[in-house]
Amino acid sequence: MELLEHGDRRRRKCEEALEVKSLRRIISAYLNYPDASEDDIRHNESSFRKLPPAHKSLLSHLPLKYESLRRCISVNTYFILNMLQAFEPPLDMNMDVDLYDHQLLECCQDEHHHRHDGGFLDSHHGSTGETMSRSIIDPVVSNIENDLMPKSARETTNPEGEQLPVLNCKPERGEVGSGATEPISSQESERQVRAVDSNGNASSFSCDWLNSSLQLNVPLVDVDKVRCIIRNIVRDWALEGQVERDQCYQPILEELERLFPKRSKESPPCCLVPGAGLGRLALDISRLGFVCQGNEFSYYMMICSSFILNHSQSVGEWTIYPWIHSNCNTVSDEDQLRPVSIPDILPASAGITEGFSMCGGDFVEVYSDPGQEGIWDAVVTCFFIDTAHNIVEYIEIIWKILKDGGVWINLGPLLYHFADTYGQNEMSIELSLEDVKKVALHYGFTLERESTISTTYTTNIRSMMQNRYFASFWTMTKKTANKSTEMHDA
Ligand SMILES: C[S@@+](CC[C@H](N)C(=O)[O-])C[C@H]1O[C@@H](n2cnc3c(N)ncnc32)[C@H](O)[C@@H]1O
Repeated sequence: MELLEHGDRRRRKCEEALEVKSLRRIISAYLNYPDASEDDIRHNESSFRKLPPAHKSLLSHLPLKYESLRRCISVNTYFILNMLQAFEPPLDMNMDVDLYDHQLLECCQDEHHHRHDGGFLDSHHGSTGETMSRSIIDPVVSNIENDLMPKSARETTNPEGEQLPVLNCKPERGEVGSGATEPISSQESERQVRAVDSNGNASSFSCDWLNSSLQLNVPLVDVDKVRCIIRNIVRDWALEGQVERDQCYQPILEELERLFPKRSKESPPCCLVPGAGLGRLALDISRLGFVCQGNEFSYYMMICSSFILNHSQSVGEWTIYPWIHSNCNTVSDEDQLRPVSIPDILPASAGITEGFSMCGGDFVEVYSDPGQEGIWDAVVTCFFIDTAHNIVEYIEIIWKILKDGGVWINLGPLLYHFADTYGQNEMSIELSLEDVKKVALHYGFTLERESTISTTYTTNIRSMMQNRYFASFWTMTKKTANKSTEMHDA
């Protein structure tokens, strides 16, 4: 018995160590953003220097553009640092993960399959055509409840139930700086990162939690994820993203209104949004009068959504430059360098329904819990079902967690996220739309409505390249309990 408990504790610690490692890597990716972006500019400058003088003089404005890009990066960094400062990690970031290094391997081998990704997979790339690949293993389900939840549900404790330390990264405002972002030096014991706000005021962030473990040189693909997040912010939280939200979120919201015309305040219907990204759809569903829960397994996303949902003070509080990282398909430098203000609405006063929450963790692990069975009136998946290793498993879980008569609204393509992970031995079941629907019908779903929606995903509306999806949009209803029993007995 004692041996078992010891084994359990060891395993828990191992899992925690893995998650801490993964979270450190994600924070490092955010912190490496200015460095990596500066490298890109230097590369541009180096190409410029190689030009023959006659060509250089034709393009004499480019050095100034590179300086402008630097300022934009600094402003993006300012946003990122403020976001990290507000982040309260649900784990003890000071944990000595090296203690567990030899056990981690065993842990990984024991796990049947690590479906978690500390990063997020986003093959629904925007106009730049970048594809993200899975790189971090993060096998522990962590339920990071959002601040919009009652306090008791979100207080972060370690497995022993103690309150955990909070990342403490204080900006020292008002210092006059060069405006450029200063890279994080690996020599300093207390790191200083500088960034400027959109008015050109420099702040120096001294991060005492930024110990040696947090300045890993992360792979560039991790920093790409940060750039991807910046584009996702436009989709969810900028006026410019309204075009995409009208294409993707609006049809879902209208369908929910149609299906639940009498939403009572006393007993509002419950709606789950797996793969909620930066949380806007979940928030808008909550505003309609649903008790809505977003589920998301990427810390990249959760750190950012938590910041916008819980810490926004005013509309347009932040400025970011989302389009600076691609020099391709731009009509003008002005387009590329245009600022975007966020957020376009203030979540705290947006009229959410009580009970709104964001739940961190892998959809399969969190919602396979027997306690989740038959409790949701609606499940909304938007650009989500193709993130599965096994899409049948997703459908099965959605079926189980819905109440009898509950609805599943789906909108998205079938760009299977694990489809091109050749050689990595990642499981990937890639079904056609017809087969996906067949599987759903097999479980007992009834197809109520179906159409195709033409939409983009995190696309720069002024780009010369616009990737367009002809996304499938459907509403399915869960049939009676009898049918469900038959199905699972079969
Ligand atoms: C393509 S994005 C769509 C985000 C959002 N629904 C939207 O329409 O903008 C897919 C999201 O699902 C998340 N995700 C992928 N697999 C997941 C899983 N197993 N559990 C929870 N979230 C997952 C990703 O991190 C990502 O944020």
